[in-house]
Amino acid sequence: MKKLGVIFGGTSTEHDVSIMSAKSVIENLDNQKYEIYPIYIDKQGKWFKQSRAGEEIKEEIENVVQYLKKLDVIFPVLHGKYGEDGTIQGMLEILGIPYVGCKVLASSVGMDKAYTKIIFEKAKIPQAPYVYVQKKNNTYKIINDNLEEEKLDLEQIASKLKFPMFVKPANSGSSVGVKKVKNIEELEMAIQYASEYDRKILVEQGIDGKEVECAILDGGEKGEILASTVGEILSAEEFYSFDAKYNMPDSKTIVPANIEKEKIEEIRKLAAKAFNAIDGSGLSRVDFFIEKNTNKVYINEINTMPGFTKISMYPKLFEAIGISYTQLLDKLIESASI
Ligand SMILES: Nc1ncnc2c1ncn2[C@@H]1O[C@H](COP(=O)(O)OP(=O)(O)O)[C@@H](O)[C@H]1O
Ligand SMILES: [Mg+2]
Repeated sequence: MKKLGVIFGGTSTEHDVSIMSAKSVIENLDNQKYEIYPIYIDKQGKWFKQSRAGEEIKEEIENVVQYLKKLDVIFPVLHGKYGEDGTIQGMLEILGIPYVGCKVLASSVGMDKAYTKIIFEKAKIPQAPYVYVQKKNNTYKIINDNLEEEKLDLEQIASKLKFPMFVKPANSGSSVGVKKVKNIEELEMAIQYASEYDRKILVEQGIDGKEVECAILDGGEKGEILASTVGEILSAEEFYSFDAKYNMPDSKTIVPANIEKEKIEEIRKLAAKAFNAIDGSGLSRVDFFIEKNTNKVYINEINTMPGFTKISMYPKLFEAIGISYTQLLDKLIESASI
C-alpha cells in the first residue's frame, strides 16, 4: 500500500475551505490502496498529525521533514498562499517526495493574477481589459504594458476601462478582497481594500454574462490532458463572492452548462491551452465568462488547486463524464511526480 500524505488547512485565507476539501478527499480515497496520513497545518503554520480531517485531537509533528520523508506521495489539498503558490511544491521537490498537482512555476503563475494575465496575453487567450496596480511605499502606481511604473490616475483607469469594474488582490482566492465597483469613489476604496490582502492589485473591466468552468486532468508522463465538460455557476449574489460560494445555498452549479455544444468545445480547447500556457501538470480548473451580448468567451482565471468537496465543480465536472470522485483521486495520485 502507498503511504499517502494529505496536507490541508494552512495559513492562507482559505484555511477552512481547505479543511472541507481534504475531508472529502480522505473520505473518498480507496483505503484498500492507500495508507492515509492526514496532515493538518494550523492558521499559525504549525504541523499536526490527525487521524481524520477536521477532528479536534491532533498531535504536533516535531520533525516535519522526517515525517514527510517516510511517505511515498503527497496530495497538498491546500488553497491559496503557501499551498497553491509553489512554496510547498518547492519544499517537496527539495525533499524528493512525489506530489499531486502543478509544479513550482505553474503554481506561482496560476496564483498570481498579474502574472497569469501576462502569460494569457502571450498565448492570445481573450481576457477582460485590465489595469495592473502596485502599492509601493504607501503610494499606488500603475504598472504599464511595458511593466514600468507610472503614476496612478483613477480618471485614466476610468477612461481605459468601463464600469462596473472588478478590483482584486493579485494573490487571493475564494473572492477574498474582491469588489465590484460602479464609480471612481468606489474604485478608490476598492483599491485600498484589495491592498490589505496584497501589494499587487488588478482592476478589470466587468464582463456581463455567464460564469463557466472547465476542469483539467493531466495524466502525466504516459497520459494525456483531458478537459472535462463545462459547468455553469448561478451565483446567489451579484457576483460570486465568498458568501455566495460557501454560505448561500441559493448559489447553484449546472453541469453541463446551458450553452451550445460549440461553445463547450471552444471552452474545453481554451482551458487546455491555458493549462499548457502556464506549464501546468496534474490538475487545474479554468474559469471563464461568456459575454451576454456578444457570446464572446473570456478567460477569468486558472486555479491549480480547485475546491475539492464532493459538491465542488472540479469533481462534479468529471463525474458528469463518467469519472467518479474515487477514480479521479486514483488518477491524480498516479500522475504524481517530483
Ligand atoms: N472581470 C470580471 N467580470 C465579471 N465578474 C468578475 C470579474 N472578475 C471577477 N468577477 C467576479 O468575482 C468573482 C471572484 O473573482 P476571481 O477573479 O475569480 O477571484 P478568486 O480567485 O478569488 O475566485 C468571480 O467568480 C466573478 O463572479
Ligand atoms: Mg474565481
